[in-house]
Amino acid sequence: MANKKILVVGSANMDLSMNMYKVPEVGETLIDDGGVAYIPGGKGANAAIALNKLGADCYFSAKVGADLHGQKLYQYYKEIGINTSYLKVDRENPTGLAVVMKESDGNNRIVVYPGANGNLTPENITEAFECEPDALYIGFEIPFSVALTAARIAASKGIPIFVDAAPASKDHALESLPPVEVFSPNETETETYTGILPQGTDSALRAALALYKRVKAKYIVLKQGDRGAFVYDGKHFFVIPAIRIGKAIDTTAAGDAFTAALTVEYLNNGGNIRNAVKFGIAAGAITVTRKGASTSIPTAEEVQALILKEDLI
Ligand code: RIB
Repeated sequence: MANKKILVVGSANMDLSMNMYKVPEVGETLIDDGGVAYIPGGKGANAAIALNKLGADCYFSAKVGADLHGQKLYQYYKEIGINTSYLKVDRENPTGLAVVMKESDGNNRIVVYPGANGNLTPENITEAFECEPDALYIGFEIPFSVALTAARIAASKGIPIFVDAAPASKDHALESLPPVEVFSPNETETETYTGILPQGTDSALRAALALYKRVKAKYIVLKQGDRGAFVYDGKHFFVIPAIRIGKAIDTTAAGDAFTAALTVEYLNNGGNIRNAVKFGIAAGAITVTRKGASTSIPTAEEVQALILKEDLI
């Protein structure tokens, strides 16, 4: 089977990843030598890397600054094997920077300075479709209008669309999106979009219904961390529980890996959403046991091995 060609339209960040036993209180200064590192990140780039490692041919439409971080990211994507023909350089803004504050339980808080990500243009996206992708994958760490342009171009060409709906904003006009295959926010993003925090089956169903009214999606897939994933198709729902394979070291990029893995499996297996979500769950489970964003993403072989071990499919 030939690899699917997937165009990712999204963000590229350098992550300043800091470990700390707890985030500081207001007015507090903490000294904590838990470790600090610059690690390639960005929700779009993490997904592009995951798609590539999980067996797709990934084309990445994004923007970085004309600076050291931009150069490092470009080199990193090249080494991994991502097609960078549509990675543009912004001469006016620096590369996006994310400050990732990671507490000792593996959970994180992230603040993103968008920099060049905010300057990706509809013209950049139009050009990227020259690669004639089998699918489009978008996230919202770029201007929503640009993500929307990408979705509209894909829809006009009959290209299936997958949406990792992060980060969320009440201002996103979700109703304007053309029909998509999968629309996937996490719990806090779902709360921003619907006002409902989906933490049990009842609230997840109410939230999924609310989203389904706003987004023309074949499947709403709510990422619920250690609760697993909740899937709704407008008529039926099911839950795939999370799996835990070790201590959660760092949850950064677990959601990105989940949606990317789901997308690859969905495309490779004729739209079998149940198996696709299981693939996503396995990819996310491995990701949280490793440090960093892009550096924690597993390969297809690792995900397959875990699926076999856990008898998931
Ligand atoms: O989803 C994790 C990512 O969110 C990090 O890599 C950071 O760059 C932010 O975009």
